[in-house]
Amino acid sequence: MTDHTDTVTANGQTGAPLWLLAELTYRCPLQCSYCSNPLDFAAVGEELTTAEWIDALAQARALGAVQLGFSGGEPLVRRDLETLVAETHRLGFYSNLITSGLGLDESRIEALREAGLDHIQISLQASDPDVAAAVAGSRKAHAKKLAMARAVKAAGYPMVLNVVLHRHNIDRLDAIIALCDELGADAVELANCQLYGWAYLNRAGLLPSRAQLEAAEATTRRWREHLAARGRDMRLLFVVPDYYADRPKACMGGWGSIFMTLAPDGAVLPCHSARMLPMRFPNVRERPLREAWYASEAFNRYRGEAWMSEPCRSCDERHRDVGGCRCQAYLLTGDPTATDPVCDLSPDHHLIEAARREAARDTRSAAELTPRNAHESRVFCRA
Ligand code: SF4
Ligand code: FES
Repeated sequence: MTDHTDTVTANGQTGAPLWLLAELTYRCPLQCSYCSNPLDFAAVGEELTTAEWIDALAQARALGAVQLGFSGGEPLVRRDLETLVAETHRLGFYSNLITSGLGLDESRIEALREAGLDHIQISLQASDPDVAAAVAGSRKAHAKKLAMARAVKAAGYPMVLNVVLHRHNIDRLDAIIALCDELGADAVELANCQLYGWAYLNRAGLLPSRAQLEAAEATTRRWREHLAARGRDMRLLFVVPDYYADRPKACMGGWGSIFMTLAPDGAVLPCHSARMLPMRFPNVRERPLREAWYASEAFNRYRGEAWMSEPCRSCDERHRDVGGCRCQAYLLTGDPTATDPVCDLSPDHHLIEAARREAARDTRSAAELTPRNAHESRVFCRA
């Protein structure tokens, strides 16, 4: 199925998009204040139909994509999810469902398993329903998530949990890991909140302090030792927030390097946040994915290193981190070509320090942050 000629292009450098993130919808029953969806999601056009998704998936596979994540929003909102899973299985993708667990039940898990879904990852907000409700805007979600985590494991999948950490739940990490242990999790991703979309809007109210972060890292280390001593195989992955790093991440492995996102309306993006950048992205309704990936101005703009300015341009580390994240550079400086301010060599690094100071002054509770919601989103659409 894979056309290997696609792994080399005219310039002989661009490889295949190995990872495809299929954002099936921006609809979601939850209202997480750390959601990375675009602020103006309510302005995004009609979702791709089932037939359009099937065609796009086939195009992505022919380009060389092998790993596929179904996400959103909440992908379970799409009633055709099982059909799309069956298609990805037929095409030979390794598929992962990234879900809140809402919209799942035992029969749907079974249907997804029969359709050939390889992996399910469920997100948890907290160890207790009160904090979870304050963050996600639903009182019932927590119990449902726990039940679905158990059901996923009972269906024969590994239990892979994702917990987004921020200042309102990070102090309860001990209880969060204990809950994951009790549930029988096989792997837990403790991912400090990435500050894009709604999370960026709520940045000052989400960013933990350095002391909170260090305590959380110590808790994770302690749990790793404890689990090893018991012979319990539960992997803990701790993802440090960018705002406490001194070098940026090589975001998406490099712009247009190995990662492609298909947004609900067919926009083809190098990452899930890029649509807020001041540039035009191709749409699979108008242009084949092959062209979007190899030939579009948007995908080529920040490929390689030629676009870099100083200090990245002459930095020895540019091959490793490709100058960091374009979305983060734009959010913080207004210039998508700037060095990611996370880097302490960046002339804009003071913006990160200012953000940490601003967060230290913020006294809002989790319930006082702006929830991701369509009403506010429509305000951003007009802005
Ligand atoms: Fe990376 Fe640029 Fe910082 Fe060098 S200056 S470490 S290339 S972000
Ligand atoms: Fe868009 Fe990093 S999230 S380039």
